[in-house]
Amino acid sequence: MDKNKSTSAALTDFLIKNKGFNMEPTRENWKSRTGFLMAAIGSAIGLGNIWRFNYLAYKNGGATFLIPYLVALLTAGLPILILEFGIGHKMRGAPPTAFYKVKNHQTDHFQGLGWWGVTLAMFGINLYYAVVISWCIRYFISAFTLEWGTKVSDFFFKTHLQMKSSMWDFTGPVLYIILGLALVWIINWVIVYKGIQKGIEKANKIFMPLLLFLVALLVVRGVTLEGAGEGIKQYLFKVDFSKLLEPSIWIDAYSQIFFTLSIGFGIMIAYSSYLPKKSNIIGNAKLTALFNCGFSLFAGFAVFGTLGYLAHKTGTPVSEVVKAGPGLAFITFPEAINAMKLFGGGKLVAQLVGIVFFLSLIVAGLSSSISLVEAFSSSVVDKFGWARKKIVTLVCILGFFGGIIFTLGNGIHWLDVVDRFMTNYGLVTVGFIQCLVIGWIYGARSIRRHINYASSKHLGRWFDICIKFITPVILLVVLGVKINGEIQTMLTKRTKVIRVELSGNDKGMNNKSIKIGFSEIQRFKISMKNGRSMAFKMDLMKDADLQMTAKRMLSGLLKDKKVFKMAFSSIGRVHLIMKNDRKYGFSSNQMGSIEVLLKDNKKILLKPAQIKDISLITQETALLNMERLTVFIAGFLWLIATGITAFFLTKRPWRNKDSLELGHHFEEGEDYHLH
Ligand code: PHE
Repeated sequence: MDKNKSTSAALTDFLIKNKGFNMEPTRENWKSRTGFLMAAIGSAIGLGNIWRFNYLAYKNGGATFLIPYLVALLTAGLPILILEFGIGHKMRGAPPTAFYKVKNHQTDHFQGLGWWGVTLAMFGINLYYAVVISWCIRYFISAFTLEWGTKVSDFFFKTHLQMKSSMWDFTGPVLYIILGLALVWIINWVIVYKGIQKGIEKANKIFMPLLLFLVALLVVRGVTLEGAGEGIKQYLFKVDFSKLLEPSIWIDAYSQIFFTLSIGFGIMIAYSSYLPKKSNIIGNAKLTALFNCGFSLFAGFAVFGTLGYLAHKTGTPVSEVVKAGPGLAFITFPEAINAMKLFGGGKLVAQLVGIVFFLSLIVAGLSSSISLVEAFSSSVVDKFGWARKKIVTLVCILGFFGGIIFTLGNGIHWLDVVDRFMTNYGLVTVGFIQCLVIGWIYGARSIRRHINYASSKHLGRWFDICIKFITPVILLVVLGVKINGEIQTMLTKRTKVIRVELSGNDKGMNNKSIKIGFSEIQRFKISMKNGRSMAFKMDLMKDADLQMTAKRMLSGLLKDKKVFKMAFSSIGRVHLIMKNDRKYGFSSNQMGSIEVLLKDNKKILLKPAQIKDISLITQETALLNMERLTVFIAGFLWLIATGITAFFLTKRPWRNKDSLELGHHFEEGEDYHLH
């Protein structure tokens, strides 16, 4: 403390001399550079590194994914991380304060950007993130007895989540999950309440080495398992360059980089605002990125080694044991743990692996969760001058109550929607606007100068080009492709039959073909082999829905081709869907003949043997899928609600004038370089 005081006293002297200030408000500092680094790395390393990264890597062709991942890191991740560290350091304020200072307190808009980021972080991500940590707590406890049993998937969905199939089927909270959630918020509260040095810094100094140790244990166990080599080979050496041409691999890489580095929400701005004047910003950013991404890769060995083992033991290919998102941690991993128990590993080993795995998820998750609480709380302290302890308490209470929706039986559906909207749209949008505001309004060059003064290495002009052009353009494309994808899933393609063409065989029809416009048909009659027949008047039939389901390939054909032909013998069933929504289906081998009565009363009678093929001339129309639309609206409302909160907070008067006085300034020629 004393040392700190003297630093700030020296700083005050310095400012008085150079700037004519006679008062320098103080701000807590990190105790050491390592402390700051641990906290930044702690925020970055989270649940996302353990399951999200590995799942994405696998889904996108194993090692192939590392290419876009690295490109995303260099073109967006690292520049924005440096930018956030730089802004936080220079302005010495949480995001709203920092952005408010961009234009010398002349505009609320940028303050609003800061608020939006931290509100999204706290009331978008953290509410559900804490619930996932609570799931880990339940599984951590379950690991002692291997409570999940042999039906791990049932345990997850039925026993643990008590899941409902519809997102609108509201139930009460699930006891275990809500208790776990309360515990998460109590831990968050205890840590953040104690402040930067005594709380966050101290916690991370315990969490990070512990996490590394736990994951190292898992890696050692993972890679020495039988069959591990196969899993790791798939993960690291399965390169499929054709994947690089798919936009989705790039989108996944960019979203993952934002998520994993905790950028876009202003967390890193808040953390770096507690840095002392001499701070190697560039070095810190590089180290944070390196540790975080290295950790993901490292944990991958544990995950894929274990999956390889599971595949080996159960005789399924590795590709089939990997499940998306929570499935990997809560279904596949318990399965692998079961396998260890069954196949000679012994129950104790299985239990230990389970305990270590879920404990590492809890530790990784908590160190990220506290960073989200800190970003929001420090924003309120900076603007309204509230006592830190008061706001932290309030935020944790709100965090707990706000998270309850995700603990309900239908909670996982909401969790899915909110997660998708926050990470896919929220993070990237805020990151995009940050680049524009700093790059063009504050000036990429000005912030680079500041960063260079403070750091021991120098950023070149590439940084300006990145922040002003490359990064925002890429992010805009990423957003555009994502929104387009969203719209596509909202529209379901419907194929409408507009004409039926029957062409005859040599035998019966002299190879003639008959074309019948759908509107020309009066009645459609199908006689069955058993002598029964069904006839339909055309005006009873929804013309859109005469569907012929061929035994194979039909759906593929329907999607891309407007006209398709099929041999009668390849037709498995004919479905007729009536306007009253009743459906009739016939399999072709039940059918004796098809009779079509035309409007002019001409009759065409065809025996299946006479029919060579039937062509349906179709037209595609797009219909709005109401369910997807609802999900979209729900996700969007969440974004808007956080936006309104941010707007409200922006419009309140500024009470803590002291925080506006803060800032690290370098004078021309002032040599603060560390080299
Ligand atoms: N970086 C954390 C992870 O990978 C999650 C996180 C995202 C934390 C956004 C803060 C903000 O799990």
